[in-house]
Amino acid sequence: MLSKKLEAALNAQINAEFWSAYLYLSMAAHFAADGKPGFANWFEIQFKEEQDHALKFFNYVIERGGKVELKPIAKVAQSWKSPLDAFEETLKHEQVVTGLINDLVSLAKEEKDYATESMLRWFVDEQVEEEATAQGYIDALKMIKDNGFGIYTMDKELQSRAYTPIAE
Ligand code: FEO
Repeated sequence: MLSKKLEAALNAQINAEFWSAYLYLSMAAHFAADGKPGFANWFEIQFKEEQDHALKFFNYVIERGGKVELKPIAKVAQSWKSPLDAFEETLKHEQVVTGLINDLVSLAKEEKDYATESMLRWFVDEQVEEEATAQGYIDALKMIKDNGFGIYTMDKELQSRAYTPIAE
């Protein structure tokens, strides 16, 4: 059984993951309208992955006999100055999420809830990848600067990203 404290924190994380999903879906809409289907595709897949993260927490709370409480999803931005701007916000956001996951690990340790600590390991590893990926695109976009052909080529590359559901 989950402690009330941990149950509340996991419910807050479900909301944070859905907020992330909403943020990336907004970026997908922005780039679709901006004639960049590859960037739109990349962020749409990011949206799906965040939904998967939310569901992973959702199923875990239920599995542990806790009560899921879905809270309202806060407003997200609607437009970005450039692809670089969007990826910089992505990295900043993922760093915040990493902090939230780390806080959850600390709480699980405090509560001596080893099952939750073990479940969270997947997210600890995932965050390393999320931050590295965003940083990689930031580096590339800084090299490309305002070069239209560079943006066009990257858009083509991002078009090929395919969605793979995360393992349960
Ligand atoms: Fe669910 Fe991008 O962290």
